Amino acid sequence: MVQEIEYKQVGKFEETKFEKIHNEIFSSSLHASKLVAHEIAKLIKQKQQEGLHCVLGLATGSSPIKVYEELVNMHRSGELSFHNVITFNLDEYYPIDRDHQQSYYHFMHQHLFNHVDIMPENIHIPDGSILLEEMDQYCIDYELKIKKYGGLDFQLLGIGRTGHIGFNEPGSHPNSGTRVITLDHITRSDAASDFNGIEHVPKKAITMGINTILKAKRIILLAWGHKKAPMIKDTIEGTVSSSVPATFLQNHQNITLILDDEAASELTRIKTPWLVGQCIWTEKLRLRAVTWLSELLNKPILKLTDKDYNEHGMSGLLAIEGSSYELNIKIFNHLQHTITGWPGGKPNADDTHRPERALPKKKRVLIFSPHPDDDVISMGGTFLRLIDQGHDVHVVYQTSGNIAVTDQEALKFAEVFNAFTNSPNSSKFQETISFLKSKKTSDRDSDAILKIKGLIRRMESLGAIRHLGLSDDKVHFLDLPFYETGRVKKKPLSREDITLTKNIIEKIAPHQLYAAGDLADPHGTHKICLDAIFAALKDLKSSTFMDDCWVWLYRGAWQEWDVSEIDMAVPLSPDEVTKKTNAILHHQSQKDRVMFQGEDSREFWLRARERNKNTAILYDALGLADYEAIEAFKRYIY
Ligand code: F6R
Repeated sequence: MVQEIEYKQVGKFEETKFEKIHNEIFSSSLHASKLVAHEIAKLIKQKQQEGLHCVLGLATGSSPIKVYEELVNMHRSGELSFHNVITFNLDEYYPIDRDHQQSYYHFMHQHLFNHVDIMPENIHIPDGSILLEEMDQYCIDYELKIKKYGGLDFQLLGIGRTGHIGFNEPGSHPNSGTRVITLDHITRSDAASDFNGIEHVPKKAITMGINTILKAKRIILLAWGHKKAPMIKDTIEGTVSSSVPATFLQNHQNITLILDDEAASELTRIKTPWLVGQCIWTEKLRLRAVTWLSELLNKPILKLTDKDYNEHGMSGLLAIEGSSYELNIKIFNHLQHTITGWPGGKPNADDTHRPERALPKKKRVLIFSPHPDDDVISMGGTFLRLIDQGHDVHVVYQTSGNIAVTDQEALKFAEVFNAFTNSPNSSKFQETISFLKSKKTSDRDSDAILKIKGLIRRMESLGAIRHLGLSDDKVHFLDLPFYETGRVKKKPLSREDITLTKNIIEKIAPHQLYAAGDLADPHGTHKICLDAIFAALKDLKSSTFMDDCWVWLYRGAWQEWDVSEIDMAVPLSPDEVTKKTNAILHHQSQKDRVMFQGEDSREFWLRARERNKNTAILYDALGLADYEAIEAFKRYIY
């Protein structure tokens, strides 16, 4: 039975003393979404009993999808009718046609309206095809319609990385109403993969204004994942300002922010609880606090003093530990013990304080790589060491990675095949070549093109692992079905994906299993690949080989673990860094014109290099040895 969201009084408790908006934090975004759906359903039913309309302001994007799913489930089970519901959507791209795959009109029908009994005339979504000269009147009418129905009873919101609500980008005025707005570059680049490139993302949008939103009687804002964490901190703790439009929500009297652990991770009470009040000093928290203090004061751990601790909210910790001297040594030793040049364990050495076991000397190692290049990008140096130190290393590429190859790259290969074969069969390539030459960005790739793109990535990964010294028979390609849509949007994880993952683990029976541990990326391929591994591990729990299998998580291309989370730090020599870089460079299709670049314009080899160098700099700054580069891992206990 789903319970209702519990409302607390903000400011009443010491732990929320920095916070100006009521918020609730959940470990699962699914559970949180269900609670929100139930609050909406309760409101709809209450209005039904009173014989009234229920006026809902709705959002699009990834955040509300599970709320809509739950509402649809409730409708399907006969529990909820939408016959009295009137909806107003927050926004729409401009210009855009209704039937464009990325229009919010399409989104809302796909996720909600097509599956419930709402009356079509009760649905209002800003029209992205309105003529510019009619726009002003159109926006005034949109506002008037909301007013005519008595205003919004409930408004659902997401938040953009610019701090936008609706599409009210930085600079938006608190008195703003529905209008056309120019989208911020960050917003457009976040939408780039949905539109197959930033150049196809509309430059403008129609959006309800801040004032329209604030007039709603009840507001819930949803935020999931690490990417949202900085904006959530600003929204909840920052000063009200149009540079972060979501801060205007601080002026609303009936609002709740619903967050998952990652989105809440930058809040002061979560990130640095010692600055807020009394803490329960677990080992993990001590480690976090001391490394934080050392970084903040730019002082090696062994040089931190009682005064430093007392002045930064840690007198309680000092009282437990006795003195800064004791505490410093303890944390220093912990970090020292994470460092090893023997990621597979050091044979014939005392392993009491080593991250890995000494035995068995030769381990079977299974490296899972979600895309065909994550292995070398995130752990190329460790990969190399495991091979060089004589372990039986296998690499498993979980997905084909085919959608990340450009049409130009595929065309190049198709033309090479064609020119080389120069035989009657070549007509097959001729067709592919013509298709590629005339392809529009919105066209889905044909199966032949997807095959070519997948093969390009396969051959690149073979080149990379051969460069590291691994033989081809140690390479396994799973081509997990969830990925094979030919589009950015993937299928949900299926039993087939889990079975394929389980079979390969069973076949290799590893002592060490490495996986991309991007726990925080709720929609991406890495998270689905990790879910497949976790589900497989659960199924395999009773197999005897699993008693001996340790799981190590590496981070994907974008971020590194926080130093307090690192359980194994593998230093790399300058030569190893070069070899790793060259392995990454085998992935030619991911160079120069990479399809899903995000905002970081550095190429993968450079990102990997800088990230590993920065981890080494951090260890050095904490007072540990000065290495060229470090790859970091977190042990996952299942
Ligand atoms: C969508 C909207 C936007 C999104 C925001 C977050 O109707 O108004 O403000 O809520 O961009 O998008 P997601 O949820 O995709 O991260």
